[in-house]
Amino acid sequence: MNFEIKDPGLAAEGRRRIEWADQDMPVLNLLRKRFEKEKPFAGKRLSACLHVTAETANLVRTLKAGGADVCLVASNPLSTQDDVAAALVKEYGIAVHAVRGEDKDMYYRHIRTAIEVKPHVTMDDGADLVSTIHFDYPDQAKEILGSMEETTTGVIRLRAMAADKSLRIPVIAVNDAKTKNLFDNRYGTGQSTVDGIIRATDILLAGKTVVVAGYGWCGRGFAARCKGMGSHVIVTEVDPIKAIEAAMDGFPVMPMAEAAKIGDLFCTLTGDIHVLRREHFEVMKDRAILANSGHFNVEIDLDGLKKMAKETRTGVRRNVDEFVLPNGRCLRVLAEGRLINLAAAEGHPASVMDMSFSTQAMCSEWVVKNAGKLETRVYDVPAEIEDWVSRLKLESMGVRIDELTEEQKEYLSSWKIGT
Ligand code: ADE
Repeated sequence: MNFEIKDPGLAAEGRRRIEWADQDMPVLNLLRKRFEKEKPFAGKRLSACLHVTAETANLVRTLKAGGADVCLVASNPLSTQDDVAAALVKEYGIAVHAVRGEDKDMYYRHIRTAIEVKPHVTMDDGADLVSTIHFDYPDQAKEILGSMEETTTGVIRLRAMAADKSLRIPVIAVNDAKTKNLFDNRYGTGQSTVDGIIRATDILLAGKTVVVAGYGWCGRGFAARCKGMGSHVIVTEVDPIKAIEAAMDGFPVMPMAEAAKIGDLFCTLTGDIHVLRREHFEVMKDRAILANSGHFNVEIDLDGLKKMAKETRTGVRRNVDEFVLPNGRCLRVLAEGRLINLAAAEGHPASVMDMSFSTQAMCSEWVVKNAGKLETRVYDVPAEIEDWVSRLKLESMGVRIDELTEEQKEYLSSWKIGT
Protein backbone atom coordinates (compact mmCIF):
# COMPACT_ATOMS: atom_id res chain seq x y z
CA MET A 1 0.00 0.00 0.00
CA ASN A 2 1.32 3.44 -0.95
CA PHE A 3 1.10 6.24 1.58
CA GLU A 4 2.76 9.50 2.58
CA ILE A 5 2.31 10.69 6.14
CA LYS A 6 4.36 12.64 8.66
CA ASP A 7 5.23 9.98 11.22
CA PRO A 8 3.92 6.42 11.57
CA GLY A 9 4.95 6.60 15.25
CA LEU A 10 1.91 8.82 15.95
CA ALA A 11 -0.52 5.98 15.18
CA ALA A 12 -1.38 4.98 18.76
CA GLU A 13 -2.48 8.52 19.69
CA GLY A 14 -4.37 8.82 16.40
CA ARG A 15 -6.24 5.58 17.08
CA ARG A 16 -7.32 6.80 20.51
CA ARG A 17 -8.69 10.01 18.99
CA ILE A 18 -10.47 8.15 16.19
CA GLU A 19 -12.14 5.81 18.71
CA TRP A 20 -13.10 8.76 20.91
CA ALA A 21 -14.78 10.50 17.98
CA ASP A 22 -16.46 7.26 16.91
CA GLN A 23 -18.39 7.13 20.18
CA ASP A 24 -20.16 10.31 19.11
CA MET A 25 -21.00 9.05 15.62
CA PRO A 26 -23.87 6.60 16.24
CA VAL A 27 -25.50 6.91 12.83
CA LEU A 28 -22.24 6.23 11.02
CA ASN A 29 -21.73 3.25 13.33
CA LEU A 30 -25.05 1.74 12.27
CA LEU A 31 -24.16 2.29 8.65
CA ARG A 32 -20.76 0.66 9.14
CA LYS A 33 -22.43 -2.45 10.58
CA ARG A 34 -24.78 -2.70 7.60
CA PHE A 35 -21.98 -2.06 5.09
CA GLU A 36 -19.89 -4.81 6.73
CA LYS A 37 -22.66 -7.29 5.93
CA GLU A 38 -23.78 -6.01 2.54
CA LYS A 39 -20.45 -4.83 1.02
CA PRO A 40 -22.03 -2.27 -1.33
CA PHE A 41 -18.60 -1.08 -2.54
CA ALA A 42 -17.07 -4.49 -3.25
CA GLY A 43 -14.55 -4.13 -6.09
CA LYS A 44 -14.83 -0.32 -6.11
CA ARG A 45 -12.00 2.16 -5.68
CA LEU A 46 -12.96 5.33 -3.84
CA SER A 47 -10.74 8.42 -3.64
CA ALA A 48 -11.57 11.05 -1.03
CA CYS A 49 -10.07 14.53 -0.81
CA LEU A 50 -11.23 15.58 2.67
CA HIS A 51 -9.85 17.14 5.83
CA VAL A 52 -7.88 14.31 7.42
CA THR A 53 -9.45 14.37 10.89
CA ALA A 54 -10.64 11.79 13.41
CA GLU A 55 -14.18 12.18 12.05
CA THR A 56 -13.08 11.64 8.47
CA ALA A 57 -11.19 8.57 9.67
CA ASN A 58 -14.49 7.10 10.83
CA LEU A 59 -16.06 7.85 7.48
CA VAL A 60 -13.30 6.13 5.51
CA ARG A 61 -13.37 3.16 7.92
CA THR A 62 -17.07 2.87 7.12
CA LEU A 63 -16.44 2.94 3.37
CA LYS A 64 -13.70 0.34 3.76
CA ALA A 65 -16.04 -1.84 5.82
CA GLY A 66 -18.37 -1.70 2.82
CA GLY A 67 -15.67 -3.18 0.60
CA ALA A 68 -14.21 0.02 -0.90
CA ASP A 69 -10.53 0.31 -1.67
CA VAL A 70 -10.04 3.83 -0.24
CA CYS A 71 -7.37 6.43 -0.97
CA LEU A 72 -7.54 9.54 1.27
CA VAL A 73 -5.75 12.83 0.57
CA ALA A 74 -5.93 16.22 2.31
CA SER A 75 -8.37 18.87 1.14
CA ASN A 76 -6.37 21.63 2.81
CA PRO A 77 -2.64 21.91 3.55
CA LEU A 78 -3.19 22.91 7.18
CA SER A 79 -6.07 20.70 8.31
CA THR A 80 -4.40 17.28 8.46
CA GLN A 81 -4.19 15.65 11.89
CA ASP A 82 -0.90 13.76 11.50
CA ASP A 83 -1.68 11.27 14.26
CA VAL A 84 -4.96 10.36 12.58
CA ALA A 85 -3.22 9.94 9.22
CA ALA A 86 -0.69 7.62 10.89
CA ALA A 87 -3.39 5.53 12.57
CA LEU A 88 -5.35 5.18 9.33
CA VAL A 89 -2.29 3.78 7.59
CA LYS A 90 -0.87 1.65 10.39
CA GLU A 91 -3.95 0.50 12.27
CA TYR A 92 -6.71 0.52 9.69
CA GLY A 93 -4.83 -0.25 6.47
CA ILE A 94 -6.06 2.81 4.56
CA ALA A 95 -3.84 4.57 2.00
CA VAL A 96 -3.41 8.15 3.19
CA HIS A 97 -1.36 10.83 1.46
CA ALA A 98 -1.46 13.89 3.72
CA VAL A 99 1.02 15.81 5.82
CA ARG A 100 0.06 18.83 7.89
CA GLY A 101 1.77 21.92 6.48
CA GLU A 102 2.36 20.36 3.04
CA ASP A 103 3.21 22.92 0.37
CA LYS A 104 1.23 23.46 -2.81
CA ASP A 105 3.36 21.02 -4.82
CA MET A 106 2.89 18.23 -2.33
CA TYR A 107 -0.80 19.04 -1.99
CA TYR A 108 -1.39 18.61 -5.73
CA ARG A 109 0.95 15.59 -5.91
CA HIS A 110 -1.32 13.91 -3.36
CA ILE A 111 -4.40 14.85 -5.34
CA ARG A 112 -2.85 13.38 -8.48
CA THR A 113 -2.12 10.17 -6.58
CA ALA A 114 -5.81 9.96 -5.64
CA ILE A 115 -6.69 10.28 -9.33
CA GLU A 116 -4.02 7.89 -10.60
CA VAL A 117 -5.47 5.01 -8.57
CA LYS A 118 -8.36 5.31 -11.05
CA PRO A 119 -11.27 5.70 -8.65
CA HIS A 120 -14.85 4.66 -9.44
CA VAL A 121 -16.25 7.11 -6.89
CA THR A 122 -14.76 10.36 -5.55
CA MET A 123 -15.44 12.63 -2.60
CA ASP A 124 -14.35 16.24 -2.35
CA ASP A 125 -14.29 19.09 0.15
CA GLY A 126 -13.78 22.21 -1.96
CA ALA A 127 -13.78 20.54 -5.43
CA ASP A 128 -10.00 20.43 -5.90
CA LEU A 129 -10.09 16.72 -6.77
CA VAL A 130 -12.87 17.01 -9.33
CA SER A 131 -11.44 20.19 -10.86
CA THR A 132 -7.98 18.57 -11.21
CA ILE A 133 -9.60 15.59 -12.95
CA HIS A 134 -11.28 17.99 -15.37
CA PHE A 135 -8.11 20.00 -16.01
CA ASP A 136 -5.47 17.30 -16.14
CA TYR A 137 -7.18 13.89 -16.51
CA PRO A 138 -10.27 14.61 -18.66
CA ASP A 139 -10.39 11.06 -20.08
CA GLN A 140 -10.71 9.63 -16.62
CA ALA A 141 -13.88 11.57 -15.87
CA LYS A 142 -16.03 9.08 -17.78
CA GLU A 143 -14.80 6.21 -15.56
CA ILE A 144 -16.16 7.94 -12.45
CA LEU A 145 -19.66 6.86 -11.43
CA GLY A 146 -20.22 9.93 -9.30
CA SER A 147 -18.66 12.36 -6.87
CA MET A 148 -19.85 13.81 -3.57
CA GLU A 149 -19.14 17.41 -2.59
CA GLU A 150 -18.97 18.33 1.10
CA THR A 151 -18.74 22.10 1.21
CA THR A 152 -20.48 25.29 0.06
CA THR A 153 -17.43 26.56 -1.84
CA GLY A 154 -17.12 23.26 -3.70
CA VAL A 155 -20.80 23.21 -4.67
CA ILE A 156 -20.50 26.78 -5.99
CA ARG A 157 -17.52 25.72 -8.15
CA LEU A 158 -19.31 22.62 -9.43
CA ARG A 159 -22.48 24.53 -10.29
CA ALA A 160 -20.29 26.99 -12.23
CA MET A 161 -18.77 24.03 -14.12
CA ALA A 162 -22.26 22.67 -14.86
CA ALA A 163 -23.44 26.13 -16.01
CA ASP A 164 -20.66 26.45 -18.58
CA LYS A 165 -21.22 22.81 -19.63
CA SER A 166 -17.78 21.61 -18.58
CA LEU A 167 -18.92 19.18 -15.89
CA ARG A 168 -18.22 15.57 -16.96
CA ILE A 169 -19.04 13.72 -13.76
CA PRO A 170 -22.37 13.27 -11.92
CA VAL A 171 -22.03 15.16 -8.65
CA ILE A 172 -24.09 15.00 -5.47
CA ALA A 173 -24.26 18.29 -3.54
CA VAL A 174 -24.00 16.77 -0.06
CA ASN A 175 -23.37 20.27 1.33
CA ASP A 176 -26.86 21.33 0.30
CA ALA A 177 -28.59 18.55 2.24
CA LYS A 178 -30.47 19.77 5.30
CA THR A 179 -28.85 16.96 7.29
CA LYS A 180 -25.56 18.65 6.43
CA ASN A 181 -25.73 22.39 6.28
CA LEU A 182 -28.37 23.14 8.94
CA PHE A 183 -26.18 21.39 11.50
CA ASP A 184 -22.59 21.10 10.29
CA ASN A 185 -22.43 24.64 8.88
CA ARG A 186 -24.42 26.28 11.65
CA TYR A 187 -23.52 24.44 14.85
CA GLY A 188 -20.29 22.82 13.66
CA THR A 189 -18.68 25.91 12.15
CA GLY A 190 -20.19 28.08 14.87
CA GLN A 191 -18.51 26.17 17.67
CA SER A 192 -15.28 25.12 15.94
CA THR A 193 -14.56 28.67 14.72
CA VAL A 194 -14.85 30.00 18.25
CA ASP A 195 -12.69 27.06 19.37
CA GLY A 196 -9.98 27.82 16.77
CA ILE A 197 -9.89 31.54 17.59
CA ILE A 198 -9.65 30.87 21.31
CA ARG A 199 -6.96 28.18 20.94
CA ALA A 200 -4.93 30.53 18.73
CA THR A 201 -5.26 33.65 20.87
CA ASP A 202 -6.74 32.76 24.29
CA ILE A 203 -8.78 35.99 24.13
CA LEU A 204 -11.91 36.63 26.13
CA LEU A 205 -14.87 36.97 23.78
CA ALA A 206 -17.06 38.71 26.35
CA GLY A 207 -17.14 42.43 25.69
CA LYS A 208 -15.27 42.24 22.38
CA THR A 209 -16.69 43.69 19.17
CA VAL A 210 -16.76 40.79 16.73
CA VAL A 211 -17.35 41.51 13.04
CA VAL A 212 -18.86 38.54 11.20
CA ALA A 213 -18.48 38.77 7.42
CA GLY A 214 -21.18 36.68 5.76
CA TYR A 215 -24.52 35.57 7.22
CA GLY A 216 -24.96 32.19 5.57
CA TRP A 217 -25.38 29.18 7.87
CA CYS A 218 -21.73 29.32 8.95
CA GLY A 219 -21.83 33.05 9.71
CA ARG A 220 -25.11 32.68 11.58
CA GLY A 221 -23.73 29.90 13.70
CA PHE A 222 -20.61 31.83 14.56
CA ALA A 223 -22.53 35.07 15.26
CA ALA A 224 -24.93 33.24 17.59
CA ARG A 225 -22.09 31.60 19.52
CA CYS A 226 -20.20 34.89 19.93
CA LYS A 227 -23.37 36.63 21.09
CA GLY A 228 -23.91 33.85 23.60
CA MET A 229 -20.41 34.46 24.95
CA GLY A 230 -21.05 38.16 25.49
CA SER A 231 -19.53 39.71 22.36
CA HIS A 232 -21.01 42.72 20.57
CA VAL A 233 -21.58 41.16 17.16
CA ILE A 234 -21.72 43.18 13.94
CA VAL A 235 -22.67 41.52 10.64
CA THR A 236 -21.58 42.54 7.15
CA GLU A 237 -23.35 41.17 4.07
CA VAL A 238 -23.80 41.70 0.32
CA ASP A 239 -27.10 39.77 0.10
CA PRO A 240 -30.10 41.92 1.07
CA ILE A 241 -32.19 38.98 2.33
CA LYS A 242 -29.42 37.69 4.56
CA ALA A 243 -28.81 41.24 5.78
CA ILE A 244 -32.47 41.54 6.82
CA GLU A 245 -32.23 38.20 8.61
CA ALA A 246 -29.16 39.41 10.50
CA ALA A 247 -30.87 42.69 11.38
CA MET A 248 -34.00 40.88 12.57
CA ASP A 249 -31.86 38.47 14.58
CA GLY A 250 -30.81 41.61 16.45
CA PHE A 251 -27.37 42.30 14.97
CA PRO A 252 -26.19 45.70 13.72
CA VAL A 253 -25.55 45.36 9.97
CA MET A 254 -23.22 47.78 8.20
CA PRO A 255 -20.68 47.97 5.38
CA MET A 256 -17.23 46.57 6.18
CA ALA A 257 -15.74 50.05 5.66
CA GLU A 258 -17.57 51.12 8.85
CA ALA A 259 -17.23 47.89 10.78
CA ALA A 260 -13.48 47.88 10.10
CA LYS A 261 -13.04 50.94 12.34
CA ILE A 262 -14.68 49.39 15.39
CA GLY A 263 -14.02 45.64 15.35
CA ASP A 264 -11.68 43.89 17.79
CA LEU A 265 -12.00 40.57 15.98
CA PHE A 266 -12.95 39.98 12.34
CA CYS A 267 -13.95 36.62 10.95
CA THR A 268 -14.76 35.96 7.29
CA LEU A 269 -17.22 33.18 6.42
CA THR A 270 -18.29 34.16 2.92
CA GLY A 271 -16.63 31.88 0.33
CA ASP A 272 -15.58 35.02 -1.53
CA ILE A 273 -12.30 36.74 -2.26
CA HIS A 274 -10.71 39.78 -0.50
CA VAL A 275 -13.55 40.47 1.86
CA LEU A 276 -10.98 42.15 4.10
CA ARG A 277 -8.59 44.28 2.06
CA ARG A 278 -6.32 47.30 2.03
CA GLU A 279 -9.00 49.95 2.55
CA HIS A 280 -10.18 48.03 5.64
CA PHE A 281 -6.71 47.30 7.06
CA GLU A 282 -5.92 51.01 6.89
CA VAL A 283 -8.69 51.94 9.35
CA MET A 284 -8.57 48.97 11.73
CA LYS A 285 -7.73 49.40 15.40
CA ASP A 286 -4.34 48.50 16.82
CA ARG A 287 -4.13 44.76 17.65
CA ALA A 288 -7.28 43.88 15.71
CA ILE A 289 -7.47 40.12 15.09
CA LEU A 290 -8.25 38.77 11.60
CA ALA A 291 -9.42 35.20 11.06
CA ASN A 292 -11.03 33.29 8.21
CA SER A 293 -13.37 30.33 8.49
CA GLY A 294 -14.22 30.05 4.79
CA HIS A 295 -12.84 27.14 2.78
CA PHE A 296 -10.02 28.92 0.91
CA ASN A 297 -7.40 31.36 2.20
CA VAL A 298 -8.50 34.12 -0.16
CA GLU A 299 -11.01 35.97 2.01
CA ILE A 300 -8.34 38.14 3.66
CA ASP A 301 -6.06 39.87 1.15
CA LEU A 302 -2.86 38.68 2.79
CA ASP A 303 -0.61 39.67 -0.10
CA GLY A 304 -2.01 43.20 0.11
CA LEU A 305 -1.46 43.26 3.86
CA LYS A 306 2.10 41.97 3.50
CA LYS A 307 2.86 44.69 0.96
CA MET A 308 1.44 47.39 3.21
CA ALA A 309 3.24 46.23 6.35
CA LYS A 310 6.42 47.99 7.42
CA GLU A 311 7.22 45.10 9.72
CA THR A 312 6.11 41.46 9.89
CA ARG A 313 6.46 39.30 12.99
CA THR A 314 5.65 35.68 12.28
CA GLY A 315 4.82 33.14 14.94
CA VAL A 316 4.42 35.57 17.84
CA ARG A 317 2.34 32.75 19.18
CA ARG A 318 1.38 29.48 17.44
CA ASN A 319 -0.99 30.41 14.58
CA VAL A 320 -0.55 34.17 15.07
CA ASP A 321 1.42 36.51 12.77
CA GLU A 322 1.60 40.27 13.30
CA PHE A 323 1.74 42.94 10.61
CA VAL A 324 2.73 46.47 11.63
CA LEU A 325 1.29 49.11 9.31
CA PRO A 326 2.85 52.49 8.42
CA ASN A 327 0.32 54.11 10.82
CA GLY A 328 1.99 52.14 13.64
CA ARG A 329 -1.01 49.86 14.24
CA CYS A 330 -0.46 46.14 14.44
CA LEU A 331 -2.90 43.64 12.86
CA ARG A 332 -2.88 40.00 13.97
CA VAL A 333 -3.67 37.34 11.38
CA LEU A 334 -4.58 33.86 12.57
CA ALA A 335 -3.48 30.62 10.88
CA GLU A 336 -2.17 32.37 7.75
CA GLY A 337 -5.76 33.19 6.82
CA ARG A 338 -6.57 29.49 6.42
CA LEU A 339 -9.73 28.03 7.84
CA ILE A 340 -9.28 28.71 11.51
CA ASN A 341 -11.47 25.90 12.84
CA LEU A 342 -9.33 23.18 11.29
CA ALA A 343 -5.96 24.94 11.28
CA ALA A 344 -6.01 25.98 14.95
CA ALA A 345 -8.56 23.54 16.38
CA GLU A 346 -9.91 20.10 15.46
CA GLY A 347 -12.72 21.05 13.10
CA HIS A 348 -16.35 20.33 13.89
CA PRO A 349 -17.13 17.96 16.73
CA ALA A 350 -17.88 14.34 15.88
CA SER A 351 -21.54 14.52 16.82
CA VAL A 352 -22.32 16.93 13.99
CA MET A 353 -19.96 15.27 11.48
CA ASP A 354 -21.94 12.08 12.18
CA MET A 355 -24.81 13.53 10.14
CA SER A 356 -22.66 14.98 7.35
CA PHE A 357 -20.61 11.83 6.92
CA SER A 358 -23.57 9.44 7.18
CA THR A 359 -25.12 11.48 4.37
CA GLN A 360 -21.82 11.20 2.44
CA ALA A 361 -21.63 7.43 2.93
CA MET A 362 -25.29 6.88 1.96
CA CYS A 363 -24.81 9.02 -1.16
CA SER A 364 -21.75 6.99 -2.16
CA GLU A 365 -23.86 3.84 -1.94
CA TRP A 366 -26.61 5.54 -3.97
CA VAL A 367 -24.10 6.47 -6.68
CA VAL A 368 -22.87 2.86 -6.92
CA LYS A 369 -26.45 1.52 -6.97
CA ASN A 370 -27.31 3.92 -9.78
CA ALA A 371 -24.13 3.27 -11.75
CA GLY A 372 -24.50 4.19 -15.40
CA LYS A 373 -27.89 5.84 -14.87
CA LEU A 374 -26.75 9.26 -13.64
CA GLU A 375 -26.33 12.32 -15.83
CA THR A 376 -23.36 14.68 -15.67
CA ARG A 377 -25.03 17.30 -13.52
CA VAL A 378 -25.29 18.41 -9.91
CA TYR A 379 -27.83 16.28 -7.99
CA ASP A 380 -29.48 17.05 -4.67
CA VAL A 381 -29.19 14.42 -1.95
CA PRO A 382 -32.18 12.05 -2.33
CA ALA A 383 -34.94 12.86 0.20
CA GLU A 384 -35.01 9.29 1.55
CA ILE A 385 -31.36 9.59 2.59
CA GLU A 386 -32.05 12.80 4.51
CA ASP A 387 -35.06 11.18 6.14
CA TRP A 388 -33.07 8.09 7.19
CA VAL A 389 -30.15 10.10 8.59
CA SER A 390 -32.32 12.56 10.51
CA ARG A 391 -34.58 9.91 12.06
CA LEU A 392 -31.63 7.86 13.24
CA LYS A 393 -29.84 10.92 14.61
CA LEU A 394 -32.96 11.84 16.56
CA GLU A 395 -33.24 8.30 17.91
CA SER A 396 -29.59 8.34 18.98
CA MET A 397 -30.27 11.62 20.83
CA GLY A 398 -33.17 9.99 22.68
CA VAL A 399 -35.64 12.47 21.17
CA ARG A 400 -39.08 11.23 20.13
CA ILE A 401 -41.47 13.09 17.84
CA ASP A 402 -45.12 12.80 16.89
CA GLU A 403 -46.49 10.95 13.89
CA LEU A 404 -49.23 12.26 11.64
CA THR A 405 -52.65 10.76 12.33
CA GLU A 406 -54.61 9.33 9.37
CA GLU A 407 -56.90 12.38 9.56
CA GLN A 408 -53.90 14.73 9.40
CA LYS A 409 -52.36 12.89 6.45
CA GLU A 410 -55.63 13.15 4.58
CA TYR A 411 -55.97 16.85 5.44
CA LEU A 412 -52.44 17.63 4.25
CA SER A 413 -52.93 15.80 0.97
CA SER A 414 -56.27 17.45 0.21
CA TRP A 415 -57.04 20.94 -1.12
CA LYS A 416 -60.78 20.76 -0.47
CA ILE A 417 -61.05 21.85 3.17
CA GLY A 418 -60.87 25.65 3.46
CA THR A 419 -62.21 28.33 5.83
N1 ADE B 1 -14.93 20.00 8.23
C1 ADE B 1 -15.16 20.69 9.35
N2 ADE B 1 -14.92 19.95 10.44
C2 ADE B 1 -14.50 18.75 10.03
C3 ADE B 1 -14.08 17.58 10.69
N3 ADE B 1 -14.05 17.49 12.01
N4 ADE B 1 -13.71 16.55 9.92
C4 ADE B 1 -13.74 16.65 8.58
N5 ADE B 1 -14.13 17.71 7.90
C5 ADE B 1 -14.50 18.78 8.61
